[in-house]
Amino acid sequence: MDAAGYVVTTGRRPGPQELSLAAWFARRLCAPLVPRENLSLKALEEKYGARGVLVVAQRRASFYTGGVEVFFHPSMAKLRIAEIKTGKTDQMVKAMDLRPGEEVLDCTLGLGVDAIVASFVVGPAGRVVGVESSPVLAALVEHGLGYYCDRLPREVLEAMRRIEVICGDHLSYLKGLPAESFDVVYFDPMFREPLHRSPAIGPLRALANDAPLARQAVEEAVRVARRRVVMKERRGSREFARLGFTCVQGGKSSPVAYGVIEK
Ligand SMILES: C[S@@+](CC[C@H](N)C(=O)[O-])C[C@H]1O[C@@H](n2cnc3c(N)ncnc32)[C@H](O)[C@@H]1O
Repeated sequence: MDAAGYVVTTGRRPGPQELSLAAWFARRLCAPLVPRENLSLKALEEKYGARGVLVVAQRRASFYTGGVEVFFHPSMAKLRIAEIKTGKTDQMVKAMDLRPGEEVLDCTLGLGVDAIVASFVVGPAGRVVGVESSPVLAALVEHGLGYYCDRLPREVLEAMRRIEVICGDHLSYLKGLPAESFDVVYFDPMFREPLHRSPAIGPLRALANDAPLARQAVEEAVRVARRRVVMKERRGSREFARLGFTCVQGGKSSPVAYGVIEK
C-alpha cells in the first residue's frame, strides 16, 4: 500500500517535539501535515477524505486505518534476545547460522522484530540492513529503531540503533547490489495462509505488501548472499518448494518453519 490518501497530524495539544516529528513523517510520506483542531480521527478522515491518519502523540507515533492502530514496539525482540542470552535456541538465528560480525539483509523488515534479533547476534562488528516496501511501516520503524527508549536493556537499544532502514521494493534493491555482499539474505513474506493466532502480524496486515515472494527475488538473493538465503513461512507451505527451498527446518512444535538455501 503506498502513502497516497494519508494525512499526518499530532495529538490534541502538541508540543514542539511532536510538531517537528509530525513534519518529518509528512515529508517522508509526501503526505499533508494537517492541524488536529480537537477533531476525532474519524472526523479528520472525513474532513480530508483520507484513508488513514498518522498521529504523532506524546507517547508514540501510530498509524490508524479502518479501526486498526499500527505502531512500533520491540517487545517480542526483547523477549527473544533475553532467551538467546539464557542459551535458548532461536530458530531464525539457527536457520541463518548467524555469527557475530556478519552482515544480514532483511528483505521484509515489517516491524523490525527479526532484524533487531539479528542485529543483537551480529553485534557492533556486524551490520543489518532492512528493506520495507510500505512507506508508512518503513517510516514508523525507522523512527522507532532510532528513538524508542522505553525501559529496554542497553544491548537491545544498541541493536535497534544499528539497523539501517531502506524504504523500497526488495527486488529492485537486490538487483542493485553486488554479488556476495551480505552473509545472509532473509525473507519473511506475509504467509500465503495467515496464522490467525499471530497477534504481532494482525495490525501489520493493514499496511503490509502481501504479494507472494517472487522467484526472481530469491534468485537475486542467492547471488547477493555469501553464505545463505533463509525464508520463514508456515510449516508445510508449498512456497518452500515453489521458491526452491529444499532444506526446511525449525522447532518441531512450531507452526512456522525456515527454508534454507546454502551456497
Ligand atoms: C511478515 S512481515 C515481516 C515481519 C518482520 N520479519 C518482523 O520481524 O517484524 C512482511 C513484511 O514484508 C514487507 N514486504 C513484502 N513484500 C515486500 C517487497 N517486495 N519489498 C519490501 N518489503 C516487502 C511487507 O510490507 C511486510 O511489512
